[in-house]
Amino acid sequence: TIDNLKGLKQGRLRIAAVTTTKYFMPRILGPFCAQYPGIDIALEVVNRDRLLDRLTRNQDDLYIMGVPPEGLDTESESFLDNPLVVLAPITHHLVGRKQIPFAELAEEPFLVRERGSGTRMTMERVFQERGTPLHIKMDLGSNEAIKQAVVGGLGLAMLSRSTLNLDPSQQELAELDVEGFPLVRAWYVVRPKGKQLSVVAATFLEFLRGHVQLFVRDQDAGSRN
Ligand code: PGA
Repeated sequence: TIDNLKGLKQGRLRIAAVTTTKYFMPRILGPFCAQYPGIDIALEVVNRDRLLDRLTRNQDDLYIMGVPPEGLDTESESFLDNPLVVLAPITHHLVGRKQIPFAELAEEPFLVRERGSGTRMTMERVFQERGTPLHIKMDLGSNEAIKQAVVGGLGLAMLSRSTLNLDPSQQELAELDVEGFPLVRAWYVVRPKGKQLSVVAATFLEFLRGHVQLFVRDQDAGSRN
């Protein structure tokens, strides 16, 4: 069977993942590579728009993203939680308040990711669905820059909780208790529909389904106390 051939599995696995996954994807690859030393991995880290571009051109085996593509013929499955949180500097006047009405966020300036980012797209949708105006103070091209700008008092942000993993600046950041938040979402592994996966890609997909929650839960618990 396939398991008897573990040591013999060889080849290259190409994964494209959105930027926000870089807080956990490399950690998942560690144990995977240890288990399958013959597999060598290329991990492309890009924003959502660039990832969709790669998907359209069939450049990778598997794609990891927060919002499965619409209008493309793909198969998606969720494999991990991906809560979206509202972040403020710990000195902010809303910190400590319970169940802040979403409408109050209309009065706050926000720091947002660049256009083409999945986080930005989700955030714009959330404000639109609730009929609340979104005041964009600044666009920044990375989650790190956004967190630093929040700490610097430039505004609030809405980011995946994954971005807080292992980041020392989280000590200076607070998650606001806004009604409806954390927004429940998931991370998805996506592939073109009907595409025959290589043996290494199929092996990784199995690994994701079976193991991922274990590795990431440990890390998550450690980062939030
Ligand atoms: P992003 O993607 O890194 O492009 O913001 C995150 C997501 O797809 O949710």
